[in-house]
Amino acid sequence: MNTSHDKFDLILRGGTVYDGSGGDPFAADVGITGDRITALGVLSGVTASDEIDVSGMAVSPGFIDAHSHDDFHVLSSPDVEHNTMQGITTVVVGNCGFGVAPYDTAAGRLGELFSLPPEVKPWDGYAGYLATIDQVKPSLNVAVLVGHNTLRLDAMGDNQEVPPSIDQVTHMAGWVAEGMEAGAVGFSTGLIYEPGRFSTTDEIAAVATVAGGYRGVYASHIRNEAGGLVAAVEEAVIVGEMSGCTVQISHHKASGGDNWGSIERSLAVIEAARERGKDVTADQYPYTSGSTRLAAVLQNGALTHGSGGLGRVGAEDVVLATCSERTELEGRSLASFVEEWDLPAEDAAQKILDETGDNVYVVIFMMDEGDVRRVMAHPTTMIGTDGIPAGSKPHPRAWGTYPRILGKYVREEGVITLQDAVHKMTGMPADKFQLAGRGHIKEGVFADLVVFDPATVIDRATYEEPKTPGAGIHHSIVNGTPIVRDGVHSHARVGRALRRGRE
Ligand code: CU
Ligand code: ZN
Repeated sequence: MNTSHDKFDLILRGGTVYDGSGGDPFAADVGITGDRITALGVLSGVTASDEIDVSGMAVSPGFIDAHSHDDFHVLSSPDVEHNTMQGITTVVVGNCGFGVAPYDTAAGRLGELFSLPPEVKPWDGYAGYLATIDQVKPSLNVAVLVGHNTLRLDAMGDNQEVPPSIDQVTHMAGWVAEGMEAGAVGFSTGLIYEPGRFSTTDEIAAVATVAGGYRGVYASHIRNEAGGLVAAVEEAVIVGEMSGCTVQISHHKASGGDNWGSIERSLAVIEAARERGKDVTADQYPYTSGSTRLAAVLQNGALTHGSGGLGRVGAEDVVLATCSERTELEGRSLASFVEEWDLPAEDAAQKILDETGDNVYVVIFMMDEGDVRRVMAHPTTMIGTDGIPAGSKPHPRAWGTYPRILGKYVREEGVITLQDAVHKMTGMPADKFQLAGRGHIKEGVFADLVVFDPATVIDRATYEEPKTPGAGIHHSIVNGTPIVRDGVHSHARVGRALRRGRE
C-alpha cells in the first residue's frame, strides 16, 4: 500500500523497456501506483513502498494469450500456473467455437475435463461468466469470445446435419447479442468440429453480423488447414466482410506434408484483404505439432482419405495427450495400438474412443518448421498458446509458448526481433481485441507487466515432460500486484474480467 511518504507503491528499477508498440527499447524505471503505471523514466531519489531491481532485464507489457482454452480452468485453478509462469497476464478464452454459455450446453459439451469446484455456481450467459471471473478473481485477466459450436448445439439439439431454421439462427444471434452487450470481444467458430462443421458460410455470417455491429473479432479455427487451406482462409475473410467483424485466423498453419509451403498463399490472401482495408490477422503457437480431439481426427478422415480439415496424418504422427478414463494410455502413439491390436489406424482410434469416452485429446505432428517460421515472421501474426492443460502428456505449448519464442526464435535463431516478438505478444492482441488500457507500457495504463532475462529465457516443456515452466521469466505483475516474483507464484488473486473497450 502507498503510505503518505512514498510516491509509488512499486518501482521496477533499471530495466530496458519494450513498450509493446514494436518500437526500439529504451532504458527506464517504471513507477506503479495502485493498478496503474504512473511514471516512466528516471526515478532515482524517489521512494516507493516496494522496489524490484530489474537491471539487465527486459520489462514488457504482460503477455496476452490471444488463443486460450482456459475458460473453465481459470475458475478451477485460479493460479493458472501454466500461463502465469510464462508471463501471461491476460487470456482470451472462448476460442475454436467452444463457448461458456449457455452454461448447461457448455458444461455438458466440455465434460469432466473442465469440471468446476462446488463453490463456483452455474452462470447466466456471458454476463454471468464475466461476473463469475470478477468474483473468483484468478491470478490473471480474462476476456471472452462467444463460441458458435456451443450456440449451435443449444439451438439445434441432436439434429445438426441440416441447416438451421430462421428461429434457430435467431436463437444463436440472441446469445451473440447477449455476449457482446456483456463485453465479449467477438465471436469464434471451430469448423472442423461438430456441430460447427455442418454450418454454411451464410449461416456463420448471419450470426457473426451481430458481433460485427460491435466491431467484434471473428476468430475462426477455419474449415480446412490442409489441402483446402487457401479456400478456408478466404471463407473467414468473406465472413468478416459480410458481418462487419474484424478477422482472426486461429493457429495459422499448413497441416500435412502435401500442403507444406501453401502457407505462402494463405498469407497472400490475408495481405490482399488488408490491402482492401479489411483488418485480418492471425495467431500462432511455435511448434510443428498441433493438438486436438481424437474424435475430430476421425470425423475429418485424417487417418484415411485426408481430404478433411486436418489433411492426412499417419498413426505414428498421433500421440495420446489426455485420456481421463485411462490415464495409463497417455503418451502412447496411435501406431502402438495399431500394432498391439492389429487394426487399421482408424479402427484403432475408434476403439480407443469406444473404450474410453469422447474426451480424448491427441498431439499430432503435421507441420513444417519452415512454415512455422514464415508465419511467425509475418507482420499479421500474433501469439497465442492454444494450450489444453489436461491429462499427463498435454501439448507443451500450454507451458512453453512464450519463453520458446523469446529464447529459440528470437535469441537463438533470429527469426524475429525481440521488440517484434513483444509486440506480437502484447500491443497487437490488445489492440485487436479492444482490451482498453492493456498491452502497452506508458503512463496511465494498467500495470500488467512481465520482467524476463533476454539472455536466458527459454522453454523447458517437452513432449515427455510437458508440464515444465520455462526459464528466465522472473516477475509478472497484474493490475499493479506481483503474481510471480523471482520465479515464484505469489498466489495473488488480482485478475479481472476484461470487457471489450472498457477500462
Ligand atoms: Cu483452439
Ligand atoms: Zn482450434
